Amino acid sequence: MNRSEIVGVHHCDGDGVMEEETRRRLGIALAILGFVLMCINGALVVGHYLVSWSIPSGTAVGITVGIVLLTLGMMTASRKRTEFEPISGKEKIASSPRVTAAGCSMLQGNLVRLKPLAREDLVLFTEWNNDPDFGGEYEPFEPLSLRDAEEWYDKLGSSEGWFLIEKIADGVGVGQIMFCMDDSAPRIGYRIVPTERGKGYCTEAVKILVDHLFLSTNIGRVESGTNPENKASVRVLEKAGFTIEGIKRKQVFVRGRWLDEALYHILREESEH
Ligand SMILES: CC(C)(COP(=O)(O)OP(=O)(O)OC[C@H]1O[C@@H](n2cnc3c(N)ncnc32)[C@H](O)[C@@H]1OP(=O)(O)O)[C@@H](O)C(=O)NCCC(=O)NCCS
Repeated sequence: MNRSEIVGVHHCDGDGVMEEETRRRLGIALAILGFVLMCINGALVVGHYLVSWSIPSGTAVGITVGIVLLTLGMMTASRKRTEFEPISGKEKIASSPRVTAAGCSMLQGNLVRLKPLAREDLVLFTEWNNDPDFGGEYEPFEPLSLRDAEEWYDKLGSSEGWFLIEKIADGVGVGQIMFCMDDSAPRIGYRIVPTERGKGYCTEAVKILVDHLFLSTNIGRVESGTNPENKASVRVLEKAGFTIEGIKRKQVFVRGRWLDEALYHILREESEH
């Protein structure tokens, strides 16, 4: 397992670009307003001074406001949005997923790529998650309507990131992977549609996400939890370089039963090998 799992980072137009364009336009509008305010008040000062040798009251305030608006507008319009800016600390990782999602970046391996979950993916996302086989026997089954999904998506905090796992060969979605900040480390979860299991897609998706988290933040470890009986999931974590650190007994409520959860982690230095 090494960082060459990420063989490319793709950028495409999306919400982030739209936000940037809106901000640029707002900045230009502010700058124009400030400039006009400055000119009008400047003209008033000059005109009044030539006629009566005095400065009309209020024009100084007008000019100052004009200068402030002009400066603010120019700063807003010229500020560049950065994707994958170097991140440090917990607050910074909190901004990472939204940067990723808004910037519409795709993390690519050899078999699959991770595409930030977009609002238009929610139909497929809902369909998958309403199938009990998608989560399998060890995951809680929580059916949801498209409307529920949209509300959930709109309220998504900046401390979690959701991705579709897409096959590189044909671009078809085969599953989902996510992370959320849990205390000081991100915790990941994943699901692959039943017909596409056993082809190595999840293992590569986990490696890509782990690499991405270590490369874009200064976190020291990534965690995951799975039922110890979930052989496929345990195998995925082992193949991706995770180590078991203990069992939380009766931790997850699934289909009327409290099940154990095995906690796994991978350290930054382990992912660099
Ligand atoms: C867990 C899951 C995501 C794995 O996805 P996947 O794409 O099939 O995973 P991969 O193909 O990368 O690897 C699966 C590995 O598990 C092995 N495996 C699968 N079923 C197994 C079983 N019953 N016993 C032992 N090994 C098993 C596969 O042989 C493969 O290992 P190998 O490459 O050494 O042969 C998928 O099974 C799934 O979506 N399950 C339901 C949701 C779930 O449990 N998610 C995890 C929650 S923590």
